[in-house]
Amino acid sequence: MHSEVTTTGAADPTSAAPKPDAPILDVEGVTIQYKTKEHLITATYRVGFQVFEADRFVILGPSGCGKSTLLKSVAGYLHPVEGEMRLNGNIVTEPGPDRVMVFQEFDQLLPWKTVKENITFALMNGGRCSNKSEANDIAMEYIQKVKLERFEDTYPHMLSGGMKQRVAIARGMAMEPAILLMDEPFAALDALTRRQMQEELLALWEDTKFTVLFVTHSIEEAVIVGSRVLIMSPHPGQVKAELNAHEHSIATLGGDGFAELQTKIHNMIFADRVLEDEVVKHG
Ligand SMILES: Nc1ncnc2c1ncn2[C@@H]1O[C@H](COP(=O)(O)OP(=O)(O)O)[C@@H](O)[C@H]1O
Ligand SMILES: [Mg+2]
Repeated sequence: MHSEVTTTGAADPTSAAPKPDAPILDVEGVTIQYKTKEHLITATYRVGFQVFEADRFVILGPSGCGKSTLLKSVAGYLHPVEGEMRLNGNIVTEPGPDRVMVFQEFDQLLPWKTVKENITFALMNGGRCSNKSEANDIAMEYIQKVKLERFEDTYPHMLSGGMKQRVAIARGMAMEPAILLMDEPFAALDALTRRQMQEELLALWEDTKFTVLFVTHSIEEAVIVGSRVLIMSPHPGQVKAELNAHEHSIATLGGDGFAELQTKIHNMIFADRVLEDEVVKHG
């Protein structure tokens, strides 16, 4: 759908091929800093990218490259010192129910509420539903989508890590946000559950074609989950390249094309490490 664009440094919007539709999320030249007592930490430097409707847009990069910082900024919790983020044309200034976040941690559910109540609570409080029976119906629809119908009245502490993540995903999707933000949602799961969750996420996407911004530090996961992958380099986090990965998913895992793309990405990320090593040796 979108042509392969490879850029280094800040993305230049004029170099991209003309797009038929406006982006849902337009991130332009975004620099985000943390001020501590002693330091000013530049977490991201002039980062730019665009997420279009039904994109599975992945931000990939090593730990500390500013992935979570970017998501928190899209969510409206952190504000850029330079550049801007626009959601459906409006500058992001505060959190809103049009952006829902799914985290890595298993404790993101309210422990005193059941699976269903966790979802209905979000629906009522997020303003998506004003009546309880409508909220119940929507909650049940999404509980079925993530295959937890037997657990609707169960409390989170009785669920496995994978099941808790399914509830968090169901809750996020039930809100029908303009964009679903996922920050390494499967990183704390065992390998088999992680693979299963990747498959389920793709099946859910086939079903509803939601727009998702997904963060990971796993190259394999990026290629499986992503239709487009933004590769970032650290200190400070900058865009290194943007690659097309829509041809690849679980079905092509283990195939030549998949492995080639994985190697290409690996080399891009690894190129940085070599340079850093050189600086340490000679600098
Ligand atoms: N609350 C904070 N205060 C100061 N520095 C922070 C804070 N959160 C993150 N950082 C720094 O910002 C950089 C990017 O962090 P983060 O966005 O969490 O990276 P990632 O999610 O890619 O691992 C890191 O250098 C990190 O140490
Ligand atoms: Mg992070």
